[in-house]
Amino acid sequence: MVVKTKHSEVIFGSDCWDALNICINANDYSCVFVLTDKNTSLHCLPYAKTKMEFDYKTLEMQAGENNKHIKTCVSLWDSLSKMGGDRKSLLINIGGGVVTDLGGFVACTFKRGIDFINIPTSLLAMVDASVGGKTGIDLGALKNQVGIIREPKMVIVDTGFLRTLPDSEYRSGYAEMLKHALIQEPAYFEALSGFLNKEEILPHIHQSVGFKAKIVSKDINEQGLRKILNFGHTLGHAVESYYLTAKNKNRLLHGEAIAIGMILETFLSVKVSGLSLDEAHKIKSVFHDIYPKISFDKDTITEVIKMLTHDKKNENGNVLFVLLKSIGEPIWNQSVPEELILEAFDFYQN
Ligand SMILES: NC(=O)c1ccc[n+]([C@@H]2O[C@H](COP(=O)([O-])OP(=O)(O)OC[C@H]3O[C@@H](n4cnc5c(N)ncnc54)[C@H](O)[C@@H]3O)[C@@H](O)[C@H]2O)c1
Ligand SMILES: [Zn+2]
Repeated sequence: MVVKTKHSEVIFGSDCWDALNICINANDYSCVFVLTDKNTSLHCLPYAKTKMEFDYKTLEMQAGENNKHIKTCVSLWDSLSKMGGDRKSLLINIGGGVVTDLGGFVACTFKRGIDFINIPTSLLAMVDASVGGKTGIDLGALKNQVGIIREPKMVIVDTGFLRTLPDSEYRSGYAEMLKHALIQEPAYFEALSGFLNKEEILPHIHQSVGFKAKIVSKDINEQGLRKILNFGHTLGHAVESYYLTAKNKNRLLHGEAIAIGMILETFLSVKVSGLSLDEAHKIKSVFHDIYPKISFDKDTITEVIKMLTHDKKNENGNVLFVLLKSIGEPIWNQSVPEELILEAFDFYQN
């Protein structure tokens, strides 16, 4: 199975490693580097090694969002340089969204840009982060503030990697699939609403990637349509950023934060874009069945709203949202009165 985008292709299933080997042998790279994080070194690299039929050098970064910052890039640029990297080198990112986002950014900037290939190992990276060309890093607590849009040469999706992925991380990736369903079509949302396991998920990963690829091909630079992929992310990122910095709070995974964002923005959709209350309650109950419910006190909500003003999707100082008219019918660039955001937290909690 293959999904093609303008400058890239995503290859699924048993043929994917052959495609990778053929691509690398055909391209005559001067040096191939493989980037993993501490966990994917342990759980994913040994398997990938049995499949990759070419020489390569390995690079490793610390795992987790806290390491998706410029210091990690500096250390990797340094290693690439010391290990003989040049304009004709290739970087293969084997990991979750942190490795594919940061590795992609390192590749796009090293020597003014070298080729990179993504081999996503988390569900989130398979359905979302590794596809579509957004690369980048965080700036302090503010997510994805610095980056470049450039598609990988190729993406290799082997769901065998999911076997070692912790369940909470699997649920986190599942949130992006639910997002795809909510902005694409009711039947897909219905199919996902029972929470599918790792053995059942491959055809749905294919559907999510196909959908994302179609949107990205029409609007790679996010001038309009691509913004629909940010459903749940305006408030979700604010919640995520807040939890990244707040003392005495456990971190929320990206998908867990986005799941909260989608419930909040579902409520805004009822108030602003005419989503029916029936659909809104259905959406909320699907999310509450899958994700832990967080309780937000007044101070936390105030802090989250402050975070919103830093959101990178703001245009001319307005905080803009993607909202639903119905499941499968998103609209973008919607502004929302602040009081409704407070009410949205009530809807989430009650
Ligand atoms: N570029 C985009 O379009 C895009 C889209 C969505 C999300 N993102 C970014 O993706 C990131 C989140 O990605 P993520 O959820 O994959 O996080 P992650 O990369 O931190 O991976 C989650 C955890 O699982 C571990 N892991 C990954 N694969 C594993 C495996 N097969 N077995 C065992 N452990 C494994 C990782 O080491 C890490 O500890 C965020 O930084 C987000 O901003 C980017
Ligand atoms: Zn996301």
